[in-house]
Amino acid sequence: ILKIATNEIDGANTLEQLNDLRVKYLGKKGEITAVLRQMGSLSPEERPVVGKYANEVKEQIQELVCDREKELKQKEMEQKLTQETIDITLPGVKRNIGGLNPLTIVKRKMEEVFMSMGYEIVEGPEIENEYFNFEALNLPSTHPARDMQDTFYITKEFLLRTHTSPVQIRTMLNKQGKLPVKIASPGRVFRKDDDPTHSPIFQQIEGLVIDKDITMADLKGTLLLFAQKMFGTNKKIRLRPSYFPFTEPSAEVDISCIMCEGNGCSTCSDTGWVEILGAGMVHPNVLKNAGYDPSEVKGFAFGIGIERVAMLKYGVKDIRDFYSGDIRVSKQFIGG
Ligand code: PHE
Repeated sequence: ILKIATNEIDGANTLEQLNDLRVKYLGKKGEITAVLRQMGSLSPEERPVVGKYANEVKEQIQELVCDREKELKQKEMEQKLTQETIDITLPGVKRNIGGLNPLTIVKRKMEEVFMSMGYEIVEGPEIENEYFNFEALNLPSTHPARDMQDTFYITKEFLLRTHTSPVQIRTMLNKQGKLPVKIASPGRVFRKDDDPTHSPIFQQIEGLVIDKDITMADLKGTLLLFAQKMFGTNKKIRLRPSYFPFTEPSAEVDISCIMCEGNGCSTCSDTGWVEILGAGMVHPNVLKNAGYDPSEVKGFAFGIGIERVAMLKYGVKDIRDFYSGDIRVSKQFIGG
């Protein structure tokens, strides 16, 4: 038995085969076990001799199985290691990552431009007090200009802000008369509008600069620099007289026509100019309402439509595309 078993065990090439042999010799129904079982039929003299020998064989087979098992396990491990070698020259698996909404891209770019000019970025609440949104901005409740911005009211006192201008008041009150004030405030605003160039939710960046000796020339220079940093140094701006209750004088500001980025599309209007913002010199009443003395300090303010800028930059024709959630829109901006 030992001889045959030795041969068979050496010949076992897998752990499975080896296990079969273990059962065959050492198992409950195995050959050695059978020999030991038959001991009862032997004479008392034979019994210790045969028993001793059978146990020795059993131990030797156990040892053989044990050694062979170690060898096979080692072999298996080596095999696994060679099979699982990683080929580091294989191309990687491309991971799908999302893209930023174009409005986020444009908003960040605009923030960067203003920060580079020394503006501090501040934010204000979207649910605004009627006083900050209108009253303090020189729009008393009887003022006809309130109709310019059809408002979502929450209660008589609270509303969804119709522009970022209330941040002007909040900022000046916070600064308590200190100079200079120089902030840019991005955020969502809300109006009852819904057509290709007006969305009920849109975003603005409010700019406010207050100091001694601020003039309209500072405003114009600032906006020109903004336009050129945003759209390229060949861009011009033009100021048209306009009306806002919180600025005097007021202007609407156009930028010279833009060939949008991408496939050569043009967003040029017939006139060669496109409106992107409203601006003006801060009205004396607004300065007073916010604790500044209009005879001592002056300031300018502007409100830029972020969607307008993004539409120009990317040649988007319908403002509502930014809010439609259509994946075909956002897919174009992956990696942007
Ligand atoms: N708040 C104005 C609007 O939403 C824009 C503006 C801001 C105009 C600051 C002048 C000064 O239309």
